[in-house]
Amino acid sequence: MAKNVLLTGGSGFIGTYLTHVLIENGFSVSVLSRSDRNNTDFITYYKWDLDHNYIDENAILNANFIIHLAGEGIVEKRWTEKRKKAILDSRTKPIELIYSVLQKHNKLLKAFISASAVGIYGAVTSDEICTEETLPANDFLGTTCQIWEDAAAKIESLGIRTVKVRTGIVLGRNEGFLKKLKPSFKLGFGAILGNGNQYLPWIHIEDLCTVYLKAIQDEQINGNYNATVLDNTTNIVLSKTLANFYGYSIWLPKVPDFVLKLILGEMSVAVLNGQRVSSEKIKKASLNFQFDDLETALSRCIS
Ligand SMILES: NC(=O)c1ccc[n+]([C@@H]2O[C@H](COP(=O)([O-])OP(=O)(O)OC[C@H]3O[C@@H](n4cnc5c(N)ncnc54)[C@H](OP(=O)(O)O)[C@@H]3O)[C@@H](O)[C@H]2O)c1
Repeated sequence: MAKNVLLTGGSGFIGTYLTHVLIENGFSVSVLSRSDRNNTDFITYYKWDLDHNYIDENAILNANFIIHLAGEGIVEKRWTEKRKKAILDSRTKPIELIYSVLQKHNKLLKAFISASAVGIYGAVTSDEICTEETLPANDFLGTTCQIWEDAAAKIESLGIRTVKVRTGIVLGRNEGFLKKLKPSFKLGFGAILGNGNQYLPWIHIEDLCTVYLKAIQDEQINGNYNATVLDNTTNIVLSKTLANFYGYSIWLPKVPDFVLKLILGEMSVAVLNGQRVSSEKIKKASLNFQFDDLETALSRCIS
């Protein structure tokens, strides 16, 4: 019988893509969602309501693996105190609920795999290359990722192999980061943000799915793994390459820091700063990225 992978937040960008990959690789897929959804031939949906601590326990009881992707969008809205709490709670509360069901039923999973983000290394602009050994930063993104990972570690305390995937900006055709950038760039209004020197650690969605698949299939994979390409992509490089794809050179002036701070508030740190992050650890586990060149990755997303 096919092994079951339960995805929390499986209806989102990464989850939708990953669902196809898992099914192609012979897994059965279930999705935990806040909405009522109809089962398909390939996907079973279960419901949860985090505000009321409700979860359909069958989702957990039928799962061999859980991949935790659920969470409020980090750069969707201004970071008010309320929004920051929602970003954090939407990542940690699901883990607490899953933990309580696993504990109640003495249920062991083959692995629990949680999304995390390279934001754990903080909103910084530096040439330092972050590895899994680099200490978490104490800004909002750093502490959020740390608390999110600590919550996942609680599942590990049940004796379950636990993996945290510290993900860079995910490039995909019609979703995520590029979905936000494409319209203005397509119209010829692409611009460089801030001084443009901030690094942009990125990964193509197909490679990210390979990382998740590896985390499921390889029992040696345990702990924290960066999932991002280490190259010299900065905001300038990305903006120029993207404009080039649409047949023009950037002509607008750079958007100054203070304008972004006015528009985005504290969240501007997420676009004005970036990290250089190494994925050597996952590569040493015999995983090679198909896309480690920005132009090739972008052409896959744009053509
Ligand atoms: N995309 C990226 O570039 C990127 C980079 C680094 C890390 N990550 C992390 O990877 C994970 C998945 O990313 P994604 O891009 O696939 O996100 P996404 O498209 O926004 O999907 C996230 C899913 O989480 C669920 N969700 C949203 N708000 C929630 C809440 N308040 N409580 C519980 N569930 C909620 C939703 O599913 P339902 O509506 O069905 O409940 C949604 O489909 C996230 O944790 C994200 O931070 C993403």
